[in-house]
Amino acid sequence: MTQNTYLDSFRKTFEISTEKMLEIAYGFRQAMEAGLQGQESPLKMLPSFIERPSGNEEGVFYTVDMGGTNVRSTKFKLSNRGFERLGEVKSRLKDPDGNYDYTNENTSAEMLFDFFAKNTEKLIQQGEQQASLGEGPKLGHTFSFPSRQVGINEAYLIEWTKEIKVAGVVGNNPNKLLKEALQRHNIDIEPVAILNDTVGTLLVAQYTHENADIGVIMGTGYNSCYLEGKHPLTGKEMIVNMEAGNFNIKLPLTKYDIEIDKRSVIPGAQLLEKMVSGYYIGEIATLIIEDFYANKAIFDDTDSMNKFRSKKIEIDSLDVENYILYPERTTHVLGCSLDDAMKLKDISKSIVLRTARLVVATLFGTLLHIEDNEIKNEHVIAVDGTIFEKMPNVPELMQQAMDELTRSPNKIVFKLVKDGSGLGAAIAAAVAEAKSY
Ligand code: GLC
Repeated sequence: MTQNTYLDSFRKTFEISTEKMLEIAYGFRQAMEAGLQGQESPLKMLPSFIERPSGNEEGVFYTVDMGGTNVRSTKFKLSNRGFERLGEVKSRLKDPDGNYDYTNENTSAEMLFDFFAKNTEKLIQQGEQQASLGEGPKLGHTFSFPSRQVGINEAYLIEWTKEIKVAGVVGNNPNKLLKEALQRHNIDIEPVAILNDTVGTLLVAQYTHENADIGVIMGTGYNSCYLEGKHPLTGKEMIVNMEAGNFNIKLPLTKYDIEIDKRSVIPGAQLLEKMVSGYYIGEIATLIIEDFYANKAIFDDTDSMNKFRSKKIEIDSLDVENYILYPERTTHVLGCSLDDAMKLKDISKSIVLRTARLVVATLFGTLLHIEDNEIKNEHVIAVDGTIFEKMPNVPELMQQAMDELTRSPNKIVFKLVKDGSGLGAAIAAAVAEAKSY
């Protein structure tokens, strides 16, 4: 095979046709409905015990946001559907220089939550003395892993995703673990709400967009939630965390995806997430390039290939972004020809385009459920995460794919919501407070 036919045949395996998107959408809708009824389904359909916020949420709230790459403690002031960020401390869970790692199996639940408490302590020290905080400030906790929720402040971790392996958290309530860690550090702040990052993103969007009813995270992990009009548990509106990253029906898995899955902490789980999210797409790109190299379809010399290999970092989706944006720079960094840099660009673009189309297919399936087949209304889909925010053209590619499916341009629109997981947690804490009176 010539170098270019290798590239062409690769491109084809990454293409997602309109028909394939529809097939995935129908499968997704079915899986949603089975999961909601408590039947066997790849979609966990986890209740959040949170409905649409009233917009009257007010006060000062602390938040802890645990997503998988960083932990963030923030203090927000909410009023009049607006907010002010009064302070923030962000720490990486894994030190890039290798000094510590709070994601591996040698970390205990206590160690992890003490790390969160210390982060909150730094935030308090940054601002004011604890004594002047007033009595028992409240905290909202965004914990972005599949958790069986039984109330707004009580959830149990089902399993870790995004390759985290910390011991002693699965089966436990992260808000209880957080509360105990805060107490160990003599911090008088009370966790009152726990939520998923998708739910936070939707809550924030609902402040400004009346039609917002789907929340999506396209970051280290992939997931979506939506507002169920009549939840089987309550008969009322409720936001449902679908854990969409675990969807696995009729996905066009390539040999690369199968390999990524094999190498992962939980093979067989999170198949959609492993095809579309930041944690994995850099690794997908690496596997493809290795394959091209083995088949003499890229880099004539070993030097460039070795340089490419040495650049690989753990979460490297941003490299994919760089390869798309800066082919000239790629030639310098890897010492390769412009032709090779253009191949890297082509491969990266195929991965990103596939991401956009797979994600949109599942979102269209969600709309089919919400509208019961015929999409008559306008909807706003709130999205947060680096893949949507930073990857070249992703919002446009998603809009095109959605319009292709609805055949009604811009009826469904995507809005970037920044910091849904931080601010959303403050809104959830305020909602929980209002409920407790
Ligand atoms: C993973 C988690 C999910 C989270 C998503 C985005 O898929 O399981 O809970 O929402 O990552 O952070």
